[in-house]
Amino acid sequence: MKRKFIIGGNWKMNKGIPVDAINSLKGLKSLLKEDLDVDIFIAPPFTSLTSAIEITKGTNLSIGAQNGHFEDTGAFTGEISLNFLRNIGCNYVILGHSERRHIFNESDDFINQKVRKALSIGLIPIFCVGETLKERESGKTKDIIEFQFENSLKDISEEDITKAVIAYEPVWAIGTGKTATPEQAEEIHFFIRNIIKDKYSSKAADSIRIQYGGSIKPGNSYELFKQENIDGGLVGGASLNEESFYNIIKSAVEVSQIH
Ligand code: PGA
Repeated sequence: MKRKFIIGGNWKMNKGIPVDAINSLKGLKSLLKEDLDVDIFIAPPFTSLTSAIEITKGTNLSIGAQNGHFEDTGAFTGEISLNFLRNIGCNYVILGHSERRHIFNESDDFINQKVRKALSIGLIPIFCVGETLKERESGKTKDIIEFQFENSLKDISEEDITKAVIAYEPVWAIGTGKTATPEQAEEIHFFIRNIIKDKYSSKAADSIRIQYGGSIKPGNSYELFKQENIDGGLVGGASLNEESFYNIIKSAVEVSQIH
């Protein structure tokens, strides 16, 4: 039995002007008329969140944020508290994305505090892990993933971990047009599921959803989603176009129908 697919659109620093987000979400809403058995979310920039939440109310589209701070309030110039995000109606938050880790130097410990906070207030963390090209080429992929898990997910209970979603995003595949092959992705997804099994239990490992991210497009999503341990996708570039994003969602629906 496949787990319920979860498809997320990470808009990154795009469509941050509310009218752009509204137009795009209106388009997506009109494509998503039927009730699909797939969880779907869009993560717009902070400035479009309120409009996005408003326009998707009562639909099967949820809204997530792309980051957040674990402190509720205080002297943290430029930061947005996870608590604010929950309060305005966000359901998800992307944490540990490689662009946060590499461009903004976020550490595993910092990410861990955010994941714990998100879980404690009912925000679903989309917890990202992944290796760089250099790490892959030197045969360190699994060590890196294991290290990221060990440090970013410490002190998280079994009950909490199953509420989170994992996103395996090989850094070399993000925004590069280079997708991991379905076999390469499946190998790491299987490895991640085993980490959860060893750290928690088979039950936790069987229920947690692991998304793949990195140059997903309508042309490769079906083959990726067909893999046993791939439970959906975190889509960057292709989520900016409603038609492409919808076609990726449709491929998840098709795969779930053959299972
Ligand atoms: P991409 O981005 O689909 O543009 O490669 C994925 C991501 O960064 O989440």
